Amino acid sequence: MAAFERVQIDPQPLSGTEKVDLTVEILGSKLSMPVIIPPMGSHGLAHVSKEEGTAKAAHAVGTLMLTSTQSNLSMEEIAQHNPGPKWFQLYAMKDRGVLRELLQRAKAAGYTAIAPTVDNLFGYPREENIRNEFRPPRSLGKGNAPRSISDPAAAIAALDARKRDLNWDDMEFIKKESGLPVIVKGVLSAKVAAMAMKRGMDAVYVSNHGGRAFDGVQATITALPRIADAVQGRLPIILDSGVRRGTDVFKALALGANVVACGRPVLYGLALGGSLGAQSVLEYMRDNLALVMRLAGTPSIKDISRDNLAPHVA
Ligand SMILES: Cc1cc2nc3c(=O)[nH]c(=O)nc-3n(C[C@H](O)[C@H](O)[C@H](O)COP(=O)(O)O)c2cc1C
Repeated sequence: MAAFERVQIDPQPLSGTEKVDLTVEILGSKLSMPVIIPPMGSHGLAHVSKEEGTAKAAHAVGTLMLTSTQSNLSMEEIAQHNPGPKWFQLYAMKDRGVLRELLQRAKAAGYTAIAPTVDNLFGYPREENIRNEFRPPRSLGKGNAPRSISDPAAAIAALDARKRDLNWDDMEFIKKESGLPVIVKGVLSAKVAAMAMKRGMDAVYVSNHGGRAFDGVQATITALPRIADAVQGRLPIILDSGVRRGTDVFKALALGANVVACGRPVLYGLALGGSLGAQSVLEYMRDNLALVMRLAGTPSIKDISRDNLAPHVA
């Protein structure tokens, strides 16, 4: 969030901009705005409606949510509450049979892209969680446990057994097996982005997991310009971690992102007001971005570029 504050907008008054168009298209999904909900496990921690609340909010606003492998409801139930565009986040598991099963389920349920998360394989210690003795409550459910394993405990264990030596061959396997576009989530390096292009991936998702997977790495808005330079517009770029306002969205788009995701604020909205609470956070992001675009003098998303930022003053 501090890194976002260091980027400054160069407004263009007298550009005659009043009407603004926030719509975007990414990987074939048409969205009302360039703000989506990132994959977050266990929405049941926030509200009894679990992912039903957030899925309905995404649909009401005309944007998409990534369903997490670690959702409480099943990916099929979540899809029913959001008939619009949707993507599935994948924590690739060790067992290829289980992995295949999940990919097939996602495709059959109408998910149109798979986002393997590559930055959270080793359970980085979250000191606050340790101090608070936080454990995700099992009672909330694990909707994506494989159905081919009849014993519930064994099914959950198979879902949670992540492949820790994940590599580019796995990414290609996921693409081939699913037949869907693959979004590599958790990229902070231009080299990794270049490799994603080389290995036929379909989008780069710049994320540091909201600062939850590895201390000491860059803020995403700091990493973004080099990644955008490497990608040169050949792959769409999604960015999250610390996006809180329309100004943050605008800055990320100006530096090369096509779409951004806003995580915890949506969950806090869900906690406070269920589906309508989550929806109100998304509406705030939309309306605030529209205002920023008017003030900056950019009538549509494609008009937003590095020219709309002030030169960096150290
Ligand atoms: C409660 C919670 C659960 C999350 N679970 C997942 C997950 O299952 N898969 C994943 O790829 N990222 C997960 N993330 C990371 C988000 O996808 C995203 O990168 C991050 O929340 C963005 O930062 P922000 O919350 O500052 O907007 C989780 C984040 C939170 C806060």
